[in-house]
Amino acid sequence: MGIILSGVQPTGNLTLGNYLGAIRNWVTMQSHNTCFFCIVDLHALTVPQDPKKLKMQTREVAAAYIASGINPSLSTIFIQSNISAHTELSWFLSCFTPMGWLNRMIQFKEKSGKNRESSVLGLYAYPVLQAADILLYKATDVPVGEDQKQHVELARDIAGAFNRAYEKEIFPLPEPQILGEATRVMSLRDGTKKMSKSDPSEFSRIHLRDDADTIAQKIKKAKTDPDPLPEDPKLLTERPEAFNLVNIYSALSNQSLESVCHQFAGAQFSTFKPALADLVVSIIAPIGLEIERLMNHEDELDGILKKGNDHAREVAEKTLHEVQKTIGILRV
Ligand code: AMP
Ligand code: TRP
Repeated sequence: MGIILSGVQPTGNLTLGNYLGAIRNWVTMQSHNTCFFCIVDLHALTVPQDPKKLKMQTREVAAAYIASGINPSLSTIFIQSNISAHTELSWFLSCFTPMGWLNRMIQFKEKSGKNRESSVLGLYAYPVLQAADILLYKATDVPVGEDQKQHVELARDIAGAFNRAYEKEIFPLPEPQILGEATRVMSLRDGTKKMSKSDPSEFSRIHLRDDADTIAQKIKKAKTDPDPLPEDPKLLTERPEAFNLVNIYSALSNQSLESVCHQFAGAQFSTFKPALADLVVSIIAPIGLEIERLMNHEDELDGILKKGNDHAREVAEKTLHEVQKTIGILRV
């Protein structure tokens, strides 16, 4: 039994990659852990956001969590910005974070690129806010994609630095849990690129809200090669697009790559693609419909978020007060 915390940014339509690489894995953790899942809207603000869209996309991520099987009576679903303790703890932690540690963050280097001087402070300080998200709930395990491993390790280092400074075990040291590694979903247009919300091509990804026809069409148009499927999945290593489709089938059907290859050995993509489309539709279309339903029932959705916020706030404020007391903040 551990304390789990994770989050997704409300920056656009969630994809099959988000589902298989992140959200689906959280669902199985709920029964034997204390789970907190947030919508990290403050992190989304590190790049420009349209106010109306941000609001809508925040609800959409919450709806996607619930539609994918995150159960609000087992897990706490909440909006990061609604709990002011996140930004407050972030400040305290930033006073324990050497700039040298932040200078090593790969994501900042990638996102700032050549424009380091004009990059905003928020983008640079982003991992400290992420550490606050994790440490406020004293999370022990943080399920994330491979790209976030370095940020969770930084949260661990910051927790250690704080504990050492006051010779007190205030924060447990959180561990990254890289669950999505086996199910890294790649672009349907280029098997060497990650399926991403921000890819300019709609045909590169499957959205959780795509309807059955759209899903089928995207799979039909997915890039492949002229060879039939092999009996041995090892023969797919040089065929990234073919591997990706087999991998998606394997993940969604909870079968090994071996067993999928065995089942389709010798089949052409004209046979495999319709089978894959049926499978994706059978799992994703109901999730899409439930997202749609929740988006049309804002009161129900906001009610769940409010309940989650209230519980998260209670836990977060307790930790914040403990930190304030430790630091020597006078509260009158
Ligand atoms: P992002 O969409 O980058 O904000 O990521 C949200 C979560 O989904 C993170 O835990 C990512 O690691 C995961 N994720 C995003 N895209 C993919 C993908 N194509 N395959 C697997 N996991 C992904
Ligand atoms: N930075 C993460 C991402 O871009 C999102 C995130 C913010 C997060 N706070 C977190 C993930 C805390 C896990 C735990 O995907």
